[in-house]
Amino acid sequence: MERRICAITGATGGIGAALADEAVRRGFDLVLHGRSVSKLEAMKEEISQRHPTLDIALVVGDLGTAFGAEQVAGEISKVAPKLDLLINNAGVLLGGLPVSPDGIDMHTQVNLIAPYVLMQRLKPALSEVKGSVINVASGSARRVKTLSVRSLKKPTDTRKLFGAYAQSKLAVALITQTIAPDFLTDGIRIVAADPGPVKSGMTSGDGMPGLLKLLRPFLYATPEKGAAKVFAALDSEARADQSGGFYPGGKRRSLPAFANQGHLADEILEFCDEQIERANDVVPLARFRISKKEA
Ligand SMILES: NC(=O)c1ccc[n+]([C@@H]2O[C@H](COP(=O)([O-])OP(=O)(O)OC[C@H]3O[C@@H](n4cnc5c(N)ncnc54)[C@H](OP(=O)(O)O)[C@@H]3O)[C@@H](O)[C@H]2O)c1
Repeated sequence: MERRICAITGATGGIGAALADEAVRRGFDLVLHGRSVSKLEAMKEEISQRHPTLDIALVVGDLGTAFGAEQVAGEISKVAPKLDLLINNAGVLLGGLPVSPDGIDMHTQVNLIAPYVLMQRLKPALSEVKGSVINVASGSARRVKTLSVRSLKKPTDTRKLFGAYAQSKLAVALITQTIAPDFLTDGIRIVAADPGPVKSGMTSGDGMPGLLKLLRPFLYATPEKGAAKVFAALDSEARADQSGGFYPGGKRRSLPAFANQGHLADEILEFCDEQIERANDVVPLARFRISKKEA
């Protein structure tokens, strides 16, 4: 029987590393993505010692531009022309509002544009085996009161966690819901799953509000528990034979009502497509990949 393959972005630490362990427990071979070659190689070494027969491919790249996301998607599709599960886990929660080299807010770039590029580019590989996609979302999305393409490009809400970050996570949950029917015609199930509050580098960083940082040691879960919740959301969606669901706190919930009104979802998808078009106007400067043989 052919082995199943799971590709995970931002796999070298935090929830991403725990998702890799959970994927192995569930019988997947791995495609691990990260920004650091040395971290990826160390992770591969460590997992291989525990699971010597596991096939692990490594893909290096920065998701901080649409072009970078295109490169990463291209390398994943080379090592996994048939992909059973894509987990868009890489994400940022930043202390300020830095602008990406593409000229848009970095939260939007990494948390929305990159998952969109990966889903679109890996759709053929996923449809080969009727695979699934998990977009790692956040319960903070439920606290967002307004959203527009304009605010995704250049956020004005400077609140930590509940400003630009939460917006980008609401947008990714909204596009998940919107493209799900189309992906399902190719047999691909998609879900936006929140791991819940987890002790990771992200929640000890500059992007966290001070009060939550104080509560973190007492209230936040381990990355393993977060990873289990993320997989459980996909299980739940599959059991109910649904797709496109948003699972904050482990339960399927509606997005804030305003997000489903008007043409917001279509406008955001159009914006994501524009970013892909721009990326393809860029001359490819570099290609990064470590295959199993090279590593
Ligand atoms: N922790 C929580 O409480 C929580 C709650 C809800 C949702 N989430 C979501 O869970 C996911 C994992 O977060 P985490 O808590 O495990 O945080 P983390 O430890 O900071 O991990 C984030 C991952 O994303 C990668 N990444 C960031 N920017 C990137 C870029 N430009 N290009 C490529 N990779 C990039 C990081 O790579 P480097 O190691 O190279 O920086 C890292 O592997 C995120 O999507 C986050 O939004 C977390």
